[in-house]
Amino acid sequence: MKKIIIVGSLNTDISISAPYCPKEGETLTGSDFMVSFGGKGANQAVAASRLGGHVLMCGCVGADEFGKSLLANLQESGTDVRHVREIADSQTGTAVILLTGGENRIILEKGANAKLSKEDVDAVLLEAEEGDLYLTQLENPVEVIGYGLKQAKEKGLVTILNPAPANQEITKYFQYVDMIMPNENELQLLGGKQLLFEKGIKKAITTLGSNGYEYSDEKITKRFPCISVNVVDTTGAGDTFCGSLAGELARGSSLEKAMAFASKAASLACTHKGAADSIPSRNEVEAWREEW
Ligand code: RIB
Repeated sequence: MKKIIIVGSLNTDISISAPYCPKEGETLTGSDFMVSFGGKGANQAVAASRLGGHVLMCGCVGADEFGKSLLANLQESGTDVRHVREIADSQTGTAVILLTGGENRIILEKGANAKLSKEDVDAVLLEAEEGDLYLTQLENPVEVIGYGLKQAKEKGLVTILNPAPANQEITKYFQYVDMIMPNENELQLLGGKQLLFEKGIKKAITTLGSNGYEYSDEKITKRFPCISVNVVDTTGAGDTFCGSLAGELARGSSLEKAMAFASKAASLACTHKGAADSIPSRNEVEAWREEW
């Protein structure tokens, strides 16, 4: 089995549900306040680990209780956290999440995630071998994420970018990306599919929410549906898709099978509250709606 190196964020998620998004100056009564584990990097690590992947997480947390809990949660999922650095003078990243009808709006305070360095990336890559998978997102400094993609590509890893939240600066590094996994908004903000291919990316998988997902390369575009579910909370569904897909590829699955499995895992994640907490294990995914 190939290793999965995940370079990304670790956050504490503070979420609350509301009937709608309040207007400026408006105070609204909400419900279901929750403090839970999150961060796009950590969520993707949990997803790949819960499927049985060999995952090494690289990132930064603050020297606070939130950081310690996040590390414990990651370890419980089976993720190797030796490359998560605790930073004395920073707070762990925090995401404030407003849920309306299961859909989320997120405000992120990066905290320690902003301190991720090239040296952190170099250190985790020392443990990587040719053919391993390298999965990363954009909640850390873009130049460090870009540097990591370059180093990983030069070392012969398969590089996968989840460009979330979208940031135009990352387009400079597209030549080092084998596969990109945006959602529809991110794809649009990055200039559309054609531009991705012109800049050197070979494959794109765009997640389309309840409409499933789309695979594209320079020759073909193919849409796939997803299982329709009663949505409780979509937070972390995209991360479940990305982490599960990497997990399946690392086990040697074909891309088509890996996408189908990842989509099933992401649909299942939408039926539970929270980000990392909602991510299913391999047994849960396999046992869920076997007929699908
Ligand atoms: O993708 C969902 C994640 O985005 C949340 O867990 C939150 O931490 C933000 O980073």
